[in-house]
Amino acid sequence: MDNQNLTNRYSTLASWVYHLDKPIGRSFGDIEFYSQRLQGISGKILEPATGNGRVLIPLLEQGFDISGFDASKEMLDYCKAEVQKRQLNPELAQERFEDFNLNSRYDAVILPAGSFQLITDVNIAIDVLKRFKAVLNEKGKLIIDLSPLSCLSEPTMMARSWKVKDGILTLTETREEVNFLTQTTTSQLRYEYWSNEGSLKSSELDYFSLRFWGIKEFELALKHAGFTAIKTYSNYELSSNIDSQTHTITFEAY
Ligand SMILES: C[S@@+](CC[C@H](N)C(=O)[O-])C[C@H]1O[C@@H](n2cnc3c(N)ncnc32)[C@H](O)[C@@H]1O
Repeated sequence: MDNQNLTNRYSTLASWVYHLDKPIGRSFGDIEFYSQRLQGISGKILEPATGNGRVLIPLLEQGFDISGFDASKEMLDYCKAEVQKRQLNPELAQERFEDFNLNSRYDAVILPAGSFQLITDVNIAIDVLKRFKAVLNEKGKLIIDLSPLSCLSEPTMMARSWKVKDGILTLTETREEVNFLTQTTTSQLRYEYWSNEGSLKSSELDYFSLRFWGIKEFELALKHAGFTAIKTYSNYELSSNIDSQTHTITFEAY
């Protein structure tokens, strides 16, 4: 089977699970942190890979002029429904990191939740950083979350479930490959939607691939793409140092 078409696609059941598991405003400390790092910005902000609007909507509600794009129509549909409920009207487009085409210029580009790691080819990732730079105003800033390299060696095999009105949604993740040369992992994600009577209503197979970056390596990539004044933060805290307890590294660059 060619996994490529099934990789990182956030299709029907995957988007449903994301929206149940990470609804609008569910924070890992990131929403407060990003809001704090964006204080003073009154111009436009872009969130590539907006998803269901988990972060975008709270930031909109705080008064930031934020717009987004995402490759997945299903994820964007959740976002559109949620903004409509709140009578908000951000610009939302179905675009991909690799070839997004936007006419506006932004004061900030933000990528919480490790979305940047979904780009598994290092050369494409660097091109994408250049594309972010190209849509930023001269003094604009980029804020990106990454998980540490140590995640490459963490075991994964997990099963989770969510109760829904007429049944149950399950997700089983099996690690298929860890490639230390390319610093990538690939997992098989099996989503199943069961009725209350125990019959399978639908299922979906996705592959989930991530690339993990060294800290210095990512700093060099940012510099290569033209960014300067690079700062790093640990676990969404302003004063913590990056150490063995760090589960999220946030890079901020101008
Ligand atoms: C982990 S979710 C993050 C959603 C949201 N930013 C948040 O913080 O909750 C990753 C998102 O990246 C999107 N995505 C995956 N590949 C993409 C690509 N090549 N271009 C743009 N978005 C992509 C997925 O559709 C998904 O909505």
